[in-house]
Amino acid sequence: MKEFNQKITKSILTGIQPSGIITLGNYIGAIKQMVRMQDEFKSYIFIADMHAITVPQDPEKLHKNIRSLVALYIACGIDPDKNIIFVQSENEYHANISWLLECNTYFGELSRMTQFKDKSSKNANFSAGLFTYPILMAADILAYDVDYVPVGIDQKQHVELARNIASRFNKKYGPTFKVPEAYITDFGTKITDLVNPTKKMSKSSANQKGVIRLLDDLKSIEKKIMGATTDSDCQIKYDPLNKPGISNLINICVALTGKTINEIENAFKNQNYGEFKKYVASVVVEEIRGIQKRYEEIINSEKLDQILNENIKITRSIAKEKFITMKHNMGLYK
Ligand code: TYM
Repeated sequence: MKEFNQKITKSILTGIQPSGIITLGNYIGAIKQMVRMQDEFKSYIFIADMHAITVPQDPEKLHKNIRSLVALYIACGIDPDKNIIFVQSENEYHANISWLLECNTYFGELSRMTQFKDKSSKNANFSAGLFTYPILMAADILAYDVDYVPVGIDQKQHVELARNIASRFNKKYGPTFKVPEAYITDFGTKITDLVNPTKKMSKSSANQKGVIRLLDDLKSIEKKIMGATTDSDCQIKYDPLNKPGISNLINICVALTGKTINEIENAFKNQNYGEFKKYVASVVVEEIRGIQKRYEEIINSEKLDQILNENIKITRSIAKEKFITMKHNMGLYK
């Protein structure tokens, strides 16, 4: 059984969908935060595979991406001895809890979710799961009574909904859940697409040139950065509104090097976009080279299975207890 440092009293939970190989956006916006927090918080980190099936997936690819994401978490620095890494669908209590929450969530609340509006507008034949997805996310979070949910800015609205659902449930049925907070860092909370820098860099983006994936060939990563959309002003200056492309590249540098915006602007004061892009490419390639090396070492290892098998027992017992409490508080017992 995993032993946590007794001094650690606060906990976090977060997850990523295995709907494709994860991007530099996921790495900077989510994974780096998890790594930073792992010594201070008891951390539940999961693979949100049941969220991935809210849109069509190829079963074989999905299966591969699930294992790949576990290996990537570890390759990116998430220490399996300090974090509880698990696969969502292996723990049936998430879906069970989700149903009880679903009966306590309003249609109107779900209709206001901007991610749903955006995704459903692209395909009229969307699944019911795409609509109810934020409730499953609330279940993931509330099952573990965590304090914080580290996410990128795009998921903030979903965490707010989880908070509202938890407060309402507590009021109606008595204290049942801890009400958690979203934990969002200032920089790198939204890494944008390299071709269309006003849009989020997304795993599901159709244009591969705008998206850097952690398992991309290193040469192609360099090429994508060198081809990133910028502007005609020729100044390396942070101005997300008027210079979204350059600002995105600066954000990437800030997140990966720890330098400030000012330091980067000053260092490239008299240089052109080509020189700056070369620098950004070298920073990104070096970071990803290390991740890929560690990934290759672990992807076929039995250790991955051991980690997942051990952790699913822990998370099932916690979520089961929460499910039973919820049922009891709602009068669902004989
Ligand atoms: P997902 O898989 O879309 O993204 C995973 C995490 O990566 C962040 N992120 C980004 N951050 C910065 N720039 C970007 N371009 C970028 N793209 C993605 C997201 O904000 C997120 O933190 N619904 C969630 C998964 C989930 C979850 C949860 C998260 C399911 N249950 C419970 C937290 C708690 C999602 O689709 O993330």
